Amino acid sequence: MKKWIMSGLFFFACAFALVLMFTVPGREHVTEEEQPRAMPEVTLDAAAAEEKAKASCITCHGNQLEGGMGPSLQTIGAKHDANKLYQIISEGTGGGMPAFEGQLTEEEIANLALWLSEKK
Ligand code: HEC
Repeated sequence: MKKWIMSGLFFFACAFALVLMFTVPGREHVTEEEQPRAMPEVTLDAAAAEEKAKASCITCHGNQLEGGMGPSLQTIGAKHDANKLYQIISEGTGGGMPAFEGQLTEEEIANLALWLSEKK
């Protein structure tokens, strides 16, 4: 009888640990995705965006943004919206795309994101 209780407790502890393993990181992931950094409101200034891209992006993404060391950005607007682009440019990807937060102002990044989001 005692053995039965012990194995019952053991089973319960294992089940509890399993539930924790799957739910705790899952929840963190969801809150991260629900709270993206807010993109400041800007009106698109295409000339300024192009100038910034020439200065900061074409070394890796190509003269015509056709791709190079980094992927082509010519139709990037079909893949990511302005908000997502804002996150990528601000934070980088950890896969070779550097974070531009601190190098460009939030408004400059937002303007670039808006400009790229129209490339479809
Ligand atoms: C040092 C080289 C480098 C520079 C400079 C650079 N990038 Fe990138 N970028 C990359 C690489 C490499 C990737 C692919 C990263 C990955 O897949 O994780 C990337 C990915 C991206 C993506 C996502 C592409 C996709 O298909 O999801 C965007 C958007 C982007 N870059 C925009 C920019 C912009 C805008 C600038 C200029 C402000 C810039 N990058 C400057 C190397 C660079």
